[in-house]
Amino acid sequence: MKKLVLFALALASLHTQTKAQSNEIPHLEKRDNRFALIVDGKPFFLLGGQINNSSAWPATLSAAWSAAEAMHANTVEAPVYWEQIEPTKGAFDFSNVDLLVNQAREQHLHLVLLWFGTWKNGQNHYVPEWVKSDPKTYPREENVYGKLLDVMSPNSSANLDADKHAFAALMRHVKSIDGTDHTVIMVQVENESGSVGSIRDFSPAAQKSFEADVPADFARSLHLRPGNWMKAFGADADESFTAYSTARYINEVAAAGKAEYPLPMYCNVWFAYPVHALENRDRPNAGQEYPSGGPQQANIPIWKAAAPSIDILAPDFYSDDFTLFRNIVATYRRDDNPLFIPESQFGVNFGRYFFYALGNGAIGFSPFGIDRSLQSTQPADQVPAQGAGFNGLGASSGPAVRPVNPAENYALFHAPEEQIARLNLEGKLYTAVEERGVARQSIHLPMADAVISFGFPQPDGTYPPGTSTFQGRAMVAQVGSLEFLVTGFDASVSFTLSAAELQKEPNQQIEILQAEEGQYVDGVWRATRILNGDQTDRGLNFRSASPPLVRIRLHKLPLYDQSVHRHAQ
Ligand code: DGJ
Repeated sequence: MKKLVLFALALASLHTQTKAQSNEIPHLEKRDNRFALIVDGKPFFLLGGQINNSSAWPATLSAAWSAAEAMHANTVEAPVYWEQIEPTKGAFDFSNVDLLVNQAREQHLHLVLLWFGTWKNGQNHYVPEWVKSDPKTYPREENVYGKLLDVMSPNSSANLDADKHAFAALMRHVKSIDGTDHTVIMVQVENESGSVGSIRDFSPAAQKSFEADVPADFARSLHLRPGNWMKAFGADADESFTAYSTARYINEVAAAGKAEYPLPMYCNVWFAYPVHALENRDRPNAGQEYPSGGPQQANIPIWKAAAPSIDILAPDFYSDDFTLFRNIVATYRRDDNPLFIPESQFGVNFGRYFFYALGNGAIGFSPFGIDRSLQSTQPADQVPAQGAGFNGLGASSGPAVRPVNPAENYALFHAPEEQIARLNLEGKLYTAVEERGVARQSIHLPMADAVISFGFPQPDGTYPPGTSTFQGRAMVAQVGSLEFLVTGFDASVSFTLSAAELQKEPNQQIEILQAEEGQYVDGVWRATRILNGDQTDRGLNFRSASPPLVRIRLHKLPLYDQSVHRHAQ
């Protein structure tokens, strides 16, 4: 009897624990230098799509949901407009927010809310009319000639208080409608902040602060020379001053919001793209080519010191330059900064960027403008024809043109998103992405190497052909000591023992025990068939359209039977 009671108590406590766990509000978890977004107690990989700037309205939302569904997204990023929620000072209208949350829930989607407040692309276009029309009370930035810009001054407490008040009201409201459901999982504070039109605010008030000493705490945290901004930052003084003023302002907005409802909060970045125009211009100009003082590459240390309430600085990526993407990933993936790509274009490199970010521990990815882009023609990708090539699967009939389809990429990861996020948090997920002239790559795993060959056909004994637009990509995740979850596009994947393993014990080899094609259903792996023969003999083959998810189990066995002494013939 006593045992029964104890058992019942243990069950009850387990139940309470699970409930408590799933009642946790969405948050970020860090393990070593890796991160995951935790939603309802579980790691969540954000397969996002951002809707167009003017789409978060009753008239346009239905197109956004259809686009998200077509894309296999699990999250929609949608703006909340300051001008709409607070049309008159202090009077709030959350009808668009309610609509967003209710409809996202009906669609079984999560939401990331984008606060279009003081800044939108380095300008002030979303501030309410009562702010826009009263520059005396709500001061603008002034350029060096005293021209009033369409940028709010970050050096004004009236501006800050107004934005803080509105954002806190928004977060209070989100908590009241969503504090238990967790449809909203993250919030972007402002949009691509910084100053467009001037490197800094030259208004008299800002000038006074610029000439004063750098605030002591901030100076200490960056180990700066004491003194004013010129002394501390030299040639970078103007931009550093703007970065500090902007980061500190946004930090206060975020902190006021978190005091109401502490969801993870991030700032997206219009980063500084390289300048290609003139030979001697090695640097883009702050305030001209990018919004001055935003969380651009060089300003990250300032932002980290001045905006501790911002959890992530997240780069928006709009370029077809893959090398630039790699640099940006390397810059924003930091021990103190989870990697998140909140905006990207749909382009020929979509799949590569997505896989590359995934393999670099990204917590999510989200192209911009899904409610228009998905309906328009996608850029064409030259890939080998389906079924072409070796392995008895059909003769090559030459390259076929097919579009890069973002939906295919998301479709692969939609069901296993929790496993993907968990494997990334545990540091067990790797990707390989094709590069020009490099059609074969190895992923070094603890015991084995995964060898990835891009492009088809792959005749025996030849170097793989690659694809004409370098679109090959593959993921290999370690789910057991010699068990892997594998998928990809335009790639074959095979396994060999790692050099380290062979060095430990040369007399060994590996072979496949079983390769299952399948899917995760409610977190449980369900095999649909066992692959063998042509589907495994020359590696696992992942062609272009709708590739499978494969779970492959290998084992080790001796290379030679050493109990028998053989003589060379
Ligand atoms: C980046 C901004 O953050 C988005 O709101 C949108 O304006 C896109 N640029 C348009 O390309």
